[in-house]
Amino acid sequence: MPRCLKWLFSFSLILLFQSATYATDGYKLWLDYKTISDSALLKEYQSLLGGIQFYGNSETIEKASREIQQGISGLLGMDSEKLNGKYRLVIGSYSNLPKDIAHQFSKELEYLNKEGYVIKSISNSIVITAKTDIGVLYGTFNFLKRLQTQQSIENLNITDSPKIDIRILNHWDNLDRTVERGYAGFSLWNWHQLPEYKDPRYEDYARANASIGINGTVLTNVNSNALVLTPQYLEKVKALADIFRPYGLKVYLTARFSAPMEIGGLKTADPLHAEVKNWWKNKVEEIYTYIPDFGGFLVKANSEGQPGPQNYGRNHVDGANMMAEALAPFNGVVMWRAFVYSEHDTTDRAKQAYNEFVPHDGQFKDNVIIQVKNGPIDFQPREPFHPMFGAMANTNLMIEFQITQEYMGGATHLVYQPKLFEEVFEADTYRKGKGSTVAKVIDGSLHNKKITGVAGVSNIGTDRNWTGHHFLQANWYGFGRLAWDPYLNSEDIAKEWVKMTFSNKEPFVEKVSAMMIESREAVVNYMTPLGLHHIMATGHHYGPGPWVSDLSRPEWNPVYYHKADNSGVGFDRTPSGSNATAQYAPEVAAMFNNLETCPEEDLLWFHHVPWNYKLKNGHTLWDGLALKYQEGVNEVAQMQATWNQLENDVDAQRFNEVKMLLNIQYKEAKWWQDACLLYFQQFSKMELPKGVEAPAHTLQYYQNLQFPYAPGIRPQW
Ligand code: GCU
Repeated sequence: MPRCLKWLFSFSLILLFQSATYATDGYKLWLDYKTISDSALLKEYQSLLGGIQFYGNSETIEKASREIQQGISGLLGMDSEKLNGKYRLVIGSYSNLPKDIAHQFSKELEYLNKEGYVIKSISNSIVITAKTDIGVLYGTFNFLKRLQTQQSIENLNITDSPKIDIRILNHWDNLDRTVERGYAGFSLWNWHQLPEYKDPRYEDYARANASIGINGTVLTNVNSNALVLTPQYLEKVKALADIFRPYGLKVYLTARFSAPMEIGGLKTADPLHAEVKNWWKNKVEEIYTYIPDFGGFLVKANSEGQPGPQNYGRNHVDGANMMAEALAPFNGVVMWRAFVYSEHDTTDRAKQAYNEFVPHDGQFKDNVIIQVKNGPIDFQPREPFHPMFGAMANTNLMIEFQITQEYMGGATHLVYQPKLFEEVFEADTYRKGKGSTVAKVIDGSLHNKKITGVAGVSNIGTDRNWTGHHFLQANWYGFGRLAWDPYLNSEDIAKEWVKMTFSNKEPFVEKVSAMMIESREAVVNYMTPLGLHHIMATGHHYGPGPWVSDLSRPEWNPVYYHKADNSGVGFDRTPSGSNATAQYAPEVAAMFNNLETCPEEDLLWFHHVPWNYKLKNGHTLWDGLALKYQEGVNEVAQMQATWNQLENDVDAQRFNEVKMLLNIQYKEAKWWQDACLLYFQQFSKMELPKGVEAPAHTLQYYQNLQFPYAPGIRPQW
């Protein structure tokens, strides 16, 4: 070969290599339709799939059609127009399908709700149908997932409907594009350039959400800014809503309670004041002229300094119902948060939300949903379930998870959160006897609720891979899947995600999903084992800070939560202490109250326990605690070892990025272990047990570490 040709050849190889690497930077999430590498299976699919027929002409159907063409061309490595296999794909909503096909589905459709779908093989066709075009789009993504995860596409008979109405991301995004507790770059919403400049990423975002059934997004931070409700911003919100609509993604905004004063020029925001009511009524009407399918408001009121009805001597019912009345004519909802605790209330913080809300059961309007965090404090690596679940039989109530990892290492630590979500859904509230799980409270079946919802505080930002860490995409993915069906198994979800995102190779899928499953307990162990909680440093909440005791509000200080002293450690929430356990059903309270039956994973959440207390495995509490920290560190070492074995199965870019992050995670797991054990050792005055590594530095060293610019920081608390 002449030299110049040789050069050209190797240059194009480099280019090819580079573009292959680029293609795996994580941008495509789980929707990277790479050609199936198993050639036998590829041939089989090619022989099975014939032409594609779409029925309907909405924008949603257009998106479904584009998706299937892109998906099939990619996965099957051929132009979807050229398919000539055994079964044609027939796709469209029931009312758009040809009559002779449609009538074969009338029975299945009876069982579907408006977002559900059917995928069924009939004679020489595979039919994807639904009551609505959005259902068709969801069915289309599900069919593609079957190919991505290499399942059979013969004799299909699938019906699936979401079990929850509102499946929503909460973006804690500020108008200046910073993200509260955001670790993946800046806010996706470029408010300055909207509405004219429409970043293609907005559509990619909506498409990714649709692929996992997420149907709502709150664009703005719960610590809200009234400006977003002004015409200048509503035009921008409209631009986003228009892009999201074909994907079934509704837009919601956070509503600042004092907006009537801040942008409306009123002298009060008292919810019972006629002028205030009128202001909200007009504001809502105005919003619907921009966004006819606007979802409604999310409100954080009288919490952590946010204004609310209590500023005017009113209560949550007054505030929420006033907004609900304005939204009702448009079918909008108010998601009113129960994350409240006050510096004027000296009762245990874990009890305050229940105390404030439960007495109002039955008083909220039908389009109000109380949004309750999964646990009674604040998104800790592990919390017992929130006592409000099941305690408000006559009030709509939704759950809020935090996908972003404020208390779990930001976007640096690999923590597979669907394991946590699943644990919460499976918890038994006993509100109507055994089997009254949180899942049944949330899907509305326990008390026959009118509206149901699951919210997740988003972990998405402008980072190229969306979530800052390739593996944290799985938390967005898994959140969507569990919001659709809270009874799914988190391990199955992990496997599905690994197959779609990385590889279908069996040993790879097994090893990686096992590592993901393990990662949740690992973070509990190296940060807050045995029920410890809220012992992180101030502001960034990133590293350990069990010694912090100087913040202005007592319940912002870690010492408030662990109560370590010479006699032991832990928060007594039994009747001899704060009696928070009384907020649970009697069976649950009895279980938590009794040291014999209280799960050890929640031990120090509910009990103050002596350092030499004997754990079930025979160790003293001190030894057991130290060994748990060590176990967490060892688990991260195991995750590193697993990952390092897989170098040949993953593209270089993702392999290296994950490897570097795991190295940091290991270092920081050790940091947590050393700092916490040195601190608690001052009280236990006991030696570290055999098998626990000696700390690398002194306690003072850890106490002096500062991170003034850690991402997502809030300096005050
Ligand atoms: C936590 C978090 C805050 C956030 C708050 C909330 O306290 O640290 O940044 O605003 O939760 O959920 O409202």
